[in-house]
Amino acid sequence: MSKVIAVTGGARGIGFATARALKDKGASVVIGDIDEAAAEEAGERLGVAAYPLDVTSRASFAAFLDRAEEPAGPLDVLVNNAGIMPIGPVTGESDADARRCMDINVHGVMIGTKLALGRMLPRGAGHVINIASLAGVLPTPGLALYNASKAAVIAFTEATRLEVLDRGVNVSAVLPTFTNTELVAGTRSPKGQKNCEPEDIAAAVVELVGRPRPQAVVPRKLSGQVRIGGLVPDRVKRAVARRYGLDKIFLEYDEDARKGYDARIRA
Ligand SMILES: NC(=O)c1ccc[n+]([C@@H]2O[C@H](COP(=O)([O-])OP(=O)(O)OC[C@H]3O[C@@H](n4cnc5c(N)ncnc54)[C@H](O)[C@@H]3O)[C@@H](O)[C@H]2O)c1
Repeated sequence: MSKVIAVTGGARGIGFATARALKDKGASVVIGDIDEAAAEEAGERLGVAAYPLDVTSRASFAAFLDRAEEPAGPLDVLVNNAGIMPIGPVTGESDADARRCMDINVHGVMIGTKLALGRMLPRGAGHVINIASLAGVLPTPGLALYNASKAAVIAFTEATRLEVLDRGVNVSAVLPTFTNTELVAGTRSPKGQKNCEPEDIAAAVVELVGRPRPQAVVPRKLSGQVRIGGLVPDRVKRAVARRYGLDKIFLEYDEDARKGYDARIRA
């Protein structure tokens, strides 16, 4: 794969695994992250260029894409991966947390998509891949803010995809389930289910780059749930949530285990 690919939030977790998987396939990869020290270390481990990036800033994002294109040529793929997940009762969410979550998860993706399209559409080629979440289609107590942000990413991605469909540029959303990164620190897995690993999401992104599709649910076996989720009566939805413990997971979590993550996303 001889593509030029930029991954946001590549210092750790899903972004790191994705950068590694794409590089292993022969792509020319650059990563950007707001955590400069972690990005630098990740860049060294991966053997890729790593740059400081704040996805909420248009100037920072444009500079990141310029630096990505400088040595390697025009950007083929942008993976908008950077995101944060504040959890807890909706009344306990500060307005500052809410704004920050929407700023990174939603505006960050919108800014990145617009900047990438500005480069890709004139060439009639390119692919924007937005890492959304199953949380965007599965509203859950304790996760209202994050649910809202990811629902916005899914709708934005699909509308943009339809808008540019005939102009040679692909736009896709990835909807992962619980994945073992710092983002889920202190939370339990849904009953009877195993979390994905970051490498599973990375593999889905690699597949999408090779064969663009509108949406990739990870794991794929949950795709059916996404399709019918909105059609199920409320009482069935609530029974299913109770069956998997989803009614409590983001309200009754281990606050101590989550302290480090919470401090990082508020820094
Ligand atoms: N882990 C999961 O269970 C899960 C499930 C579904 C979707 N996702 C999504 O996957 C993406 C990656 O999450 P993760 O689990 O790897 O989390 P993570 O916390 O391990 O990594 C996220 C990275 O994004 C970076 N980042 C945060 N704000 C930024 C900003 N303003 N600009 C640039 N970089 C910034 C962080 O520094 C961090 O390195 C997120 O969009 C997340 O919502 C995660």
